Amino acid sequence: RARHDDSRAPLYAALEAADQWYRTQLAQQPQAIDYLKQRGLDGETAKRFGLGYAPAGWSGLLTALSAHHPREHLEQAGLLARKNDSVYDRFRDRIMFPIRDSRGRTIGFGGRVLGDGTPKYLNSSETALFHKGRELYGLFEARQSRAPLDTILIVEGYMDVIGLAQSGIVNAVATLGTATTREHLQRLFRVVDRLVFCFDGDRAGRQAAWRALEHALPVMTDGREAAFLFLPDGEDPDSFIRRHGKEAFAQRQQHATALSRFLLDELSQRHTGNSMEARAALLKEAGMPLRELDPGALKNQIIDAIALETRMSPERVTQALRRASTPAT
Ligand code: GTP
Ligand code: MN
Ligand code: MN
Ligand code: MN
Ligand code: MN
Repeated sequence: RARHDDSRAPLYAALEAADQWYRTQLAQQPQAIDYLKQRGLDGETAKRFGLGYAPAGWSGLLTALSAHHPREHLEQAGLLARKNDSVYDRFRDRIMFPIRDSRGRTIGFGGRVLGDGTPKYLNSSETALFHKGRELYGLFEARQSRAPLDTILIVEGYMDVIGLAQSGIVNAVATLGTATTREHLQRLFRVVDRLVFCFDGDRAGRQAAWRALEHALPVMTDGREAAFLFLPDGEDPDSFIRRHGKEAFAQRQQHATALSRFLLDELSQRHTGNSMEARAALLKEAGMPLRELDPGALKNQIIDAIALETRMSPERVTQALRRASTPAT
């Protein structure tokens, strides 16, 4: 174990040095500061999230850091890119978002172009310290906030986390451009008992919500809650809160759809017919997600509601669900 830690220590050190260097660069680059201001961010928020700037050019970071950090460590920390024999800065002319682990150590970065370039966001490559599919941007910062956390909001992007925090909503986290996994949700449920997922209100948003539901059901033991907040089509939490304000956002959060409600609504919207066939189809579709749900009070209530909807007895529904959960041969 000691040996393992020894090999990681220089990577943490390199990332910490990069973090500081990017922040120093931001302070010296009026264009980057203007970009953040134009997006409504103040200095306090930028500081809270440790925002920085990676200058244009191929070797600013490499030159500045290589006196104290061997190139090999910078490369293993995901800060450099390599083409053939040449090694150069991975992040160039981007706003830098440090990604911190639960102890507040920087383990990677997201970088955003200042304008319309592509890719819009670039993340650190996978390293010994950074696993994109596991991390949650903003979780460390949310836990740092003074108010006790009882709910965590799950949003899509870096700027959603930051834009909400700027407006005083400091309990948002984002995945790093990937869908939420069961592992993400397990981690969050170790911190709070209630999760609120934010989605765009259009069809794609509802589809994303269904996928989130499928990931959430296996970890929904009694005592835990999940809900879905839908925003107007085309808005993300950052744009919404800037346009409509904190109160409007809080109101939507208050009226977030409980996971169980969303499941039932979605099932009945997908199977509207009043026929026995439609009700059987509804039951069949309920089988897959529900087989993942722990037996308990929540599951029983969902079964009762499906029984009402399909005009069957709860016993019959339970039976049918059991059948639906038997893998096809
Ligand atoms: P802004 O345009 O700065 O407001 O960002 P956004 O977060 O609203 O962007 P968008 O809704 O397009 O994307 C949401 C999240 O997906 C981002 O925060 C990133 O984590 C990720 N993402 C978006 N574009 C890219 C990309 O080009 N490459 C990668 N790797 N991730 C991206
Ligand atoms: Mn990995
Ligand atoms: Mn949309
Ligand atoms: Mn946005
Ligand atoms: Mn967005």
